Amino acid sequence: MRHILSVNDLTAEEIKIVFEGAAEIEKLRCNSRNFGSLIPPVAKTSLIFIEPSTRTRKSFREAAEWLGFRVDEIVGAQDSSLVKGESLADTARMFSIYGSNILVIRADIEGAPRFIQEILDRDGYSTAVINGGDGINQHPTQALVDFFTIAKYFQWENIPNLTIGFLGDLETSRVVHSDLELARLLGVKKIRLVSAPEVRVQAKYKSGFQEIVESEDFKELRDCDVIIALRVQKERYVDRAKLESVKGRFRITAANIHLLNKRAIIMHPLPNPKDGGEIDPRLYSYGGGPRIVVHEQVVNSIPLRMQILSQIYSERRQKSENSDVATESVVCYDIIHEESAREYLKRQEGKSRDFFRPINPETGSGIIIDHLPLGQGIVVKNLLQKSFGKNALLTHLIENVRSGKYGKKDMLIIEGDCLLWQEKDLTAAISFLCGSRVTIHVIKDRMYRKVRIMKPLFILRFLRCPNPNCVTRHEPEAVTRFFNKFPELEIVECGYCEREFSREELQPII
Ligand code: NCD
Repeated sequence: MRHILSVNDLTAEEIKIVFEGAAEIEKLRCNSRNFGSLIPPVAKTSLIFIEPSTRTRKSFREAAEWLGFRVDEIVGAQDSSLVKGESLADTARMFSIYGSNILVIRADIEGAPRFIQEILDRDGYSTAVINGGDGINQHPTQALVDFFTIAKYFQWENIPNLTIGFLGDLETSRVVHSDLELARLLGVKKIRLVSAPEVRVQAKYKSGFQEIVESEDFKELRDCDVIIALRVQKERYVDRAKLESVKGRFRITAANIHLLNKRAIIMHPLPNPKDGGEIDPRLYSYGGGPRIVVHEQVVNSIPLRMQILSQIYSERRQKSENSDVATESVVCYDIIHEESAREYLKRQEGKSRDFFRPINPETGSGIIIDHLPLGQGIVVKNLLQKSFGKNALLTHLIENVRSGKYGKKDMLIIEGDCLLWQEKDLTAAISFLCGSRVTIHVIKDRMYRKVRIMKPLFILRFLRCPNPNCVTRHEPEAVTRFFNKFPELEIVECGYCEREFSREELQPII
């Protein structure tokens, strides 16, 4: 474990080690305050908290101090030069330069911790990054705290057999996103999701479970062993009407708690707002069962975060090799036909159109990008100009051509030696935007080749993330990266904000 950016980066084995370590720390903490033997005195952790926080920041601070780390922090953008417009990347670099071994970052920008980790790795700093909550995306250490608490009540080996229910704002709560990913990772099979229909959890978090019930009916939680309530994230709503309609809609009170399983535990990452929060605070002392364990979660967060800090610190010191992040799009080409220019011309004899005009296949060289969907010709032309320079290529755009296969199409002819093959990011973007129908005809050294671009695995640089809150829309050094998650469905996942998008949603950066 070298950093914690998303639940997706963890394995069940790693989580088990964290829980065992945290349990050991808990025992030690009862006996002594001296953890100096675990961490050399120079170790330093920095808390960069751009968004408000009580528990996450204070518990990381407490955990770091128990371990003997030096701690410094930014509390809110106004506490730093961020308020003067400095980038988060430069802010984080400063902390690395001042000697931080670990940065814990909380920001409203999704993907910010992952981006910062990559920038620091690239620049050769050995600082590790922990995601303390990034917008609506992830809150991985809260999920670890939650399952550490669940494991204490039900035992690690029983986790897969539990029925876990979530209640409240499941769309914009990052905690439910990380909790669901962790539940899936640990083999949980049965999930109940109770929320207003307007704030259901995104589809990607629901896959991989055997039984999922999604409902507006509180009673669907009755067979749950664990119920996790989540705050309506009012600060994230731009649609005030939507906020008004979901606010205070689900609330565990004296009137409905008896509907829940008596042996269940009720959790909440907190804050539980005093005005209409998800749990009536008067139930905190409720004795009849189910049991409300929200403050135990906070107690458990200290040994858990101590274990995370000490483990990341020692593993980071052992190896600070280069990161394995894709720095170039992954694309493959398939040559579907190859022949000499002469053979090619012979084959063309008698056909009405002169495909390669103005290029003479026997003497010149060039490329034709064919079967571009109508309207995409200009997009591809602009992308080529962005990549190669405005006047570097002699291009001829032919729009609205009749096509036997596709009705209408655009075509682009490029004269001369165009090193399209070396521009992997560009070809990946073209292939994703235009689909697998695109064929490329190449004339070079008196050879003719017909080439298809295979569906790319990663697409870097040329496509804009549609999420206005994604770090790639805010940080000048950020380069977009999409993982082609479901190539057949043409759905990609942003490598930073982790949201999924269809092809239609993606626009080129021109
Ligand atoms: C949560 C958060 O910030 O995502 N709180 C926490 O870290 N304990 C939940 C919330 O704000 O609703």
